[in-house]
Amino acid sequence: MPAVPIGVFDSGVGGLSVLRAIRRQLPAQPVIYLADQAHVPYGSRTLEEVRGFSEAITRYLLDQGARLIVVACNTASAAALHELRDRFPEVPFVGMEPAVKPAAEHTHTGVVGVIATPATFQGRLYASVVERFAHGVTILQDTVPGLVTAIENGQLDAPETRAILEAALEPMLAQNIDTVVLGCTHFPFVIPLIQQIAGPGVRVIDPAPAVARQTERLLETRGWRAEGESPAAVRYLTTGPRKPFEALLGRLIDAPDATAEKLRWSRANLRA
Ligand code: DGL
Repeated sequence: MPAVPIGVFDSGVGGLSVLRAIRRQLPAQPVIYLADQAHVPYGSRTLEEVRGFSEAITRYLLDQGARLIVVACNTASAAALHELRDRFPEVPFVGMEPAVKPAAEHTHTGVVGVIATPATFQGRLYASVVERFAHGVTILQDTVPGLVTAIENGQLDAPETRAILEAALEPMLAQNIDTVVLGCTHFPFVIPLIQQIAGPGVRVIDPAPAVARQTERLLETRGWRAEGESPAAVRYLTTGPRKPFEALLGRLIDAPDATAEKLRWSRANLRA
């Protein structure tokens, strides 16, 4: 039986932080990665709009042969995960939620910072995570305006990017946070900068490895896990311009020879 492909999507390059963890955990699993760069950033759009994109993307990935879908975007998970599971009941989905639980379990100061997009903070997924896990812990939130766009532009250590992060983190540090939860899949690409600003005493939580393990568990229960160490193919699709996306594949996940396929939105559907 040929190995079962999984579909992974995000508004842009953020989901590559999740893809990287999946490749480490499941090297032999073929992957189709879709970046909806025609619509990035998702975080300032309405939940309804992001839900429409997410449904169309899921449909496209399933048409291309994906059998399990990783919603490698906190914003799309907040907007659409529930509805995607309803609409495609036969498909296993793995979604993202801000890692408030491990942060609340391990904080010593009792103060935790969460950075995510406005849409993620508005969704009921985030409210339910805080309600269930943040007992007795103070949660400070910031939407870090401009950070997703800076990362999409490859400005991983530019002075402007540092200034954006300082504006978000310094008020939190002044209130004694000892943990920063990355509630957006773009943000792991600036962990070195975050760590420089916050100092070595602050723990930064990237949920990607946990998401990769959950993907593995779901594949295993269905007998779909591809065994072996030899790396399977990854198809990269983008709804934005191909060249800048390919350049970022080289920089962000060390895939300098990867080529991307261009997709187009036609009304509410995707086409090659
Ligand atoms: N990477 C995304 C997330 O995890 C989306 C960021 C955006 O497009 O605003 O939320």
